[in-house]
Amino acid sequence: MWTILAVCLYFCRTDVDGASGISFARSYGNHMVLQGAPNRAVLWGFAHKIGDIVHVSLDNNEITTTTVIANPHGGSSGIWKVKLPAQNSKGPFVIHVSSSEGLASIYDVLFGDVWFCSGQSNMGFSMNHVFNHTEELNEAAKYSEIRIFNTKRYTSNTSLTDLSQASHWYLPNSTTLGNFSAVCWLYGKYLYPHIHRPIGLIESAWGGTIIEAWSSHDALAKCTSTGNRVNRATPNHPSVLWNAMVSPFLPMTIYGVIWYQGESNAPHADKYACQFPAMITDWRHKFHQASNGETNETFPFGFVQLAGNGNDTNRGFPDLRWAQTANYGYVPNAQLPNVFMSVAMDLPDFHSPYGSVHPRDKQDVASRLVLAARAVAYGENGLDFQGPIPTKFTLHGSSLTIEFNQGNSPIEVRSDSGFEMCCTYYTDPNYQCPTTSEWYVVHMTSHSSSSIALNITSCTDHGNRIRGVRYAWHEGPCQVKHCAIYGRDNDLPAPPFKHHI
Ligand SMILES: *[C@@H]1O[C@H](CO)[C@@H](O)[C@H](O)[C@H]1NC(C)=O
Ligand SMILES: *[C@@H]1O[C@H](CO)[C@@H](O)[C@H](O)[C@H]1NC(C)=O
Ligand SMILES: *[C@@H]1O[C@H](CO)[C@@H](O)[C@H](O)[C@H]1NC(C)=O
Ligand SMILES: *[C@@H]1O[C@H](CO)[C@@H](O)[C@H](O)[C@H]1NC(C)=O
Ligand SMILES: *[C@@H]1O[C@H](CO)[C@@H](O)[C@H](O)[C@H]1NC(C)=O
Ligand SMILES: *[C@@H]1O[C@H](CO)[C@@H](O)[C@H](O)[C@H]1NC(C)=O
Ligand SMILES: *[C@@H]1O[C@H](CO)[C@@H](O)[C@H](O)[C@H]1NC(C)=O
Repeated sequence: MWTILAVCLYFCRTDVDGASGISFARSYGNHMVLQGAPNRAVLWGFAHKIGDIVHVSLDNNEITTTTVIANPHGGSSGIWKVKLPAQNSKGPFVIHVSSSEGLASIYDVLFGDVWFCSGQSNMGFSMNHVFNHTEELNEAAKYSEIRIFNTKRYTSNTSLTDLSQASHWYLPNSTTLGNFSAVCWLYGKYLYPHIHRPIGLIESAWGGTIIEAWSSHDALAKCTSTGNRVNRATPNHPSVLWNAMVSPFLPMTIYGVIWYQGESNAPHADKYACQFPAMITDWRHKFHQASNGETNETFPFGFVQLAGNGNDTNRGFPDLRWAQTANYGYVPNAQLPNVFMSVAMDLPDFHSPYGSVHPRDKQDVASRLVLAARAVAYGENGLDFQGPIPTKFTLHGSSLTIEFNQGNSPIEVRSDSGFEMCCTYYTDPNYQCPTTSEWYVVHMTSHSSSSIALNITSCTDHGNRIRGVRYAWHEGPCQVKHCAIYGRDNDLPAPPFKHHI
């Protein structure tokens, strides 16, 4: 401790001048939130003298030391990196790191949960543009234990050690929150009263971007059989956003990720079904490794299923929604642990001034995500966090019965629309109707608290061989909160589904 104080007395002025030879990586700064107990936060940064001892103190108590090593990614600067002891206290703390080269400090540091928010324009969609933005921004300052970091946009063809440009951690207020991700912010805001700890929110998003840009070379290699689509416009080259906007965060301990992306991949939903889980697994592995095991290797990963949009063209939204969820059974990504979903197909904004692909209601999107996060990411028992999920399809006579697992709540039928049957003259029992033909609208004849019955009589007009049923297979399947099937008590929609019969 005396060393720290002595060093500080001598070097604090040089730090103010920015002349100190030791520094933090750009993702660290005043007002930040570091991951709290039981995980240990990782701190890292740069220094020049390889082998030099670095002292780390929390509120002027030395808690650990480390040695400057050569940067494994190359470059002339060395790297220092430490794990702090697990912190149960939320702070605020002052953290000093010092060496023979000087001192660097970060002030007003809290410990809590760090969430990383990524994707394309619907994740980037800012608080200035949401419904009720004036009220939302005016009350932002009440949430002083939620801190935000907005990553500057940058691309790179090689994996970067640090962010390319400086950015800041901010306390939320009507200025700093205005250009911050609405889904990310509202997620933190709704989660906060349930977890009783500070929340760090990192936005790293870019409109119009494809999943390939956010995937490392290793993740892309998992799906080579399907090829990688490379869109010529920057930033849609493989891995360029992974390299510049994800990779620099890897050493920092995080709690989880939320993701809202897929519109730009909708024409290639089949590939997405491979690419999305490959990316999730790869991000988990790399965050885990780079934090020396502190970020959980199966950290929670939440995502928003594509929202309702106009029906003008067939951009492949239904297939992309299916790729986001259903290749793994009816439970979202059941193949991967700790993945959760917010269904948004019934939250369209057909007249959004930002285009119908950018709905302004991010509040419902985020509150559905938080409900699922409480159950999946925080282990809260007894929550009905999913809409009704179809479990059994039974044909008898002129009727198809669909039974749902609807948790503890009965199903609520809000409309009769959205069901279609695949009816065909083809005799092959494995025949799959193409997305755009041989599907005919069918109607509901009855429903109970856990099932519905569809009238399939009209199939006889189209070949009489029933090969499937699907639900909500449109870009914008319904008006706001008026799709057909909901959980009565949790107000959550049944997700779209497709089933071969
Ligand atoms: C990355 O490589 C591609 C293809 O070689 C090139 O077109 C693009 O400009 C490069 N991007 C950056 C950020 O260097
Ligand atoms: C919000 O915080 C920023 C950064 O601390 C500050 O510059 C700005 O004046 C604040 N705005 C309001 C409205 O308080
Ligand atoms: C967002 O606004 C803050 C405060 O006005 C500013 O410092 C920051 O550079 C902006 N960030 C982006 C990504 O535009
Ligand atoms: C990682 O997360 C899983 C799933 O929540 C949990 O069971 C496991 O205990 C966690 N591992 C560590 C090391 O915290
Ligand atoms: C906007 O505020 C009104 C009035 O409080 C509320 O009824 C409505 O649900 C809010 N809209 C959203 C999207 O949260
Ligand atoms: C089923 O649909 C057929 C015509 O498609 C109609 O004649 C019949 O009345 C319907 N049955 C029920 C139970 O609604
Ligand atoms: C899209 O098409 C479906 C089926 O025809 C219809 O139920 C839905 O209302 C349409 N959506 C819009 C926004 O027109």
